[in-house]
Amino acid sequence: MKRWMSRELTFKPNQKQERFLKAKARYVAFGGARGGGKSWAIDTKAILMVNRWPGIKILIVRRTLVELRNNHIDPLKQQLNGLAKWNQQERKFIFPNGSTIAFEYYDSERDSFKYQGVQYHVIFVDEATQMPEEWLKIIASCCRSVDEIPKRIYYTCNPGGPGHQYIKRLFIDRKFRENENPDDYVFIQSLVTENKVLMEYSPDYIKFLEALPPHLKKGWLYGDWNIAEGMYFDGFRDNPEGYDTRKWTHVINPFTPPRTWPIYRSHDWGSAKPSSTGWWACDENGVLYRIYELYTVEYSGADPIPDKGTKWTPDQLYAEIARIEREHPWLAGKKVTGVADPAIWQAETGISFAETAAKHGVYFTPGDHKRIPGWMQMQYRLMFDEEGFPQMYVFKGCKNWIRTIPTLEHDPHNPEDVLTTGEDHAADETRYLCQMRTCKPPKVDDAEGDIDWTSDPLEQMARRRSRA
Ligand SMILES: Nc1ncnc2c1ncn2[C@@H]1O[C@H](COP(=O)(O)OP(=O)(O)O)[C@@H](O)[C@H]1O
Ligand SMILES: [Mg+2]
Repeated sequence: MKRWMSRELTFKPNQKQERFLKAKARYVAFGGARGGGKSWAIDTKAILMVNRWPGIKILIVRRTLVELRNNHIDPLKQQLNGLAKWNQQERKFIFPNGSTIAFEYYDSERDSFKYQGVQYHVIFVDEATQMPEEWLKIIASCCRSVDEIPKRIYYTCNPGGPGHQYIKRLFIDRKFRENENPDDYVFIQSLVTENKVLMEYSPDYIKFLEALPPHLKKGWLYGDWNIAEGMYFDGFRDNPEGYDTRKWTHVINPFTPPRTWPIYRSHDWGSAKPSSTGWWACDENGVLYRIYELYTVEYSGADPIPDKGTKWTPDQLYAEIARIEREHPWLAGKKVTGVADPAIWQAETGISFAETAAKHGVYFTPGDHKRIPGWMQMQYRLMFDEEGFPQMYVFKGCKNWIRTIPTLEHDPHNPEDVLTTGEDHAADETRYLCQMRTCKPPKVDDAEGDIDWTSDPLEQMARRRSRA
């Protein structure tokens, strides 16, 4: 442990981390769930390899620079203070024995040039499933050199994300292709429950995982890789018993919303596709009711469902929205807060849809475009509490919402996301509203109210640690 170190570093890995630290296969995947101590294991293994192999060139890759800093660079700077020199320009640590640990991110196609003509002995890709197969292959192509130092690639991963299918094929299903030697691939699973440090210091994190919508809980808490199957909104219930009850159902009989309840309008414009607009009332508890909708293609009952273009011009559509809000008894005279696809502010043809809408007195704020957190918010609303009450209802007249939501599937290339080739317009506008008016999941004991339910608390923690 002390070949080059002037002071002793102490590492106490848990059992699974220890297996990772000892793993010597050409490709090792570690994790399979959230909070399993993956980033910690990468940093620790990198230090151990620096110590074992003088002159080793190590690369740590993560999707974004911010995540790279929060999860690796900043913690390592503290740990290696006095043991290694930090070169800010080249973003790497240089050790007295000639070894280096460099850091790189890969966030878009444009970043591929960083991986041309560079060589490393060992590459760690943290949260590898956040990157598509092609990027992972480009990164892997940098793992080469002609000396006795081992050449290896270590991935950490969770189910879900654009790299899900690739990592699953190699390490879970073990369906190998030509030139892939099965002995080169080792998977070590680590669940959050095995990360005793986290369980002890951050019990909130387990609360977050336990309260997740079903498919995410399957993947992130239990490390189940079969999360891409079935319908996306598998929690949606259109109660066949009738619409009188509010329990264990999302579809209900209409009622006149009290005048005091705020009204929202969510909107997704489709140029070649239908436009979808929903009106929502919000009760004292923050529960949303989709009371009315305007969908520019009527379902004719044909199968397959035609997703044919809309004949409406923007002018006609926003005039109709304005008319509905003037004349509909639930809406007339009420202030309506609008949220819409941020794309309607683009003005390629001179005047944006948002401007056209404004001409008719129909105003929107731009919706938050982040898809996964948006879907998560929508899923939280659909989940039932112990007594069977959800945080979102739909009046039974909103038939396009009720028809399209159950048809949506997981994107096989990014299972936490909805497949965008589906009829997703009603879902999209609903997502913008859910992101604007966030809620917390049911069944959580969050008395202190200190969990921020809009993003992963572990990442929030890493950000805080990094700022400290
Ligand atoms: N063996 C360990 N000893 C001390 N702290 C650890 C250990 N394993 C993990 N941690 C800490 O637990 C938290 C979560 O671990 P992390 O590696 O970030 O999880 P993951 O990357 O799997 O989400 C971090 O604060 C990390 O420093
Ligand atoms: Mg991590």
